[in-house]
Amino acid sequence: MLGKINTAIFISGRGSNLKNLIKFSKKKDNPIKIILVVSNNKNAKGLIYAKNNNIPFLVCNFKNKNSSEKKIIKRLKKTKVELICLAGFMIILTSNFIKKYNKTILNIHPSLLPKYKGLNTHERVINNNEKFTGSTVHLVNAKLDSGKIILQRKIKILKNDSPKSLEKKILKLEYKLYPDAILKFFSNF
Ligand code: GRF
Repeated sequence: MLGKINTAIFISGRGSNLKNLIKFSKKKDNPIKIILVVSNNKNAKGLIYAKNNNIPFLVCNFKNKNSSEKKIIKRLKKTKVELICLAGFMIILTSNFIKKYNKTILNIHPSLLPKYKGLNTHERVINNNEKFTGSTVHLVNAKLDSGKIILQRKIKILKNDSPKSLEKKILKLEYKLYPDAILKFFSNF
């Protein structure tokens, strides 16, 4: 594939989706090249995957959202980033930032959107006796977890499932979902 898409991944913690996207980016015929990792947390475990794979990273603590975003935008422009993938990034970006990167920011959210936007999705689906849950990759717009859905996968909730067991199952599903969503986004979406 000619000319891969310069991609930045934004994380806040564990970074297992980042790890998986790095693996995906090394596959033949994948469309992305990960050129930057951004974190709001200098202690994010996931930064180890950037270090181990020689991917430059930028930490901005977001104590001042506007100046952190300014710094990030400067770097995104300098490195010509064309796609941003949020993967466990716990900061809500300003509408100014989102406008600048209109229709080029993806997010993965561990629920069957539009249901269960926001935090603690696994607890809430169990408390509400839902039969199914899953994960969704969507475009980011100014409203939380509300942009156009690109791809979604679901699983059945079993009687003995707990928030922990759902988290584990959903993470596993996400390792296929996020790459598939990226492929879809750059093909017929
Ligand atoms: C994932 O479940 C993702 O859906 C959600 O946060 C979690 C991030 O996990 N937004 P990790 O940091 O990629 O391991």
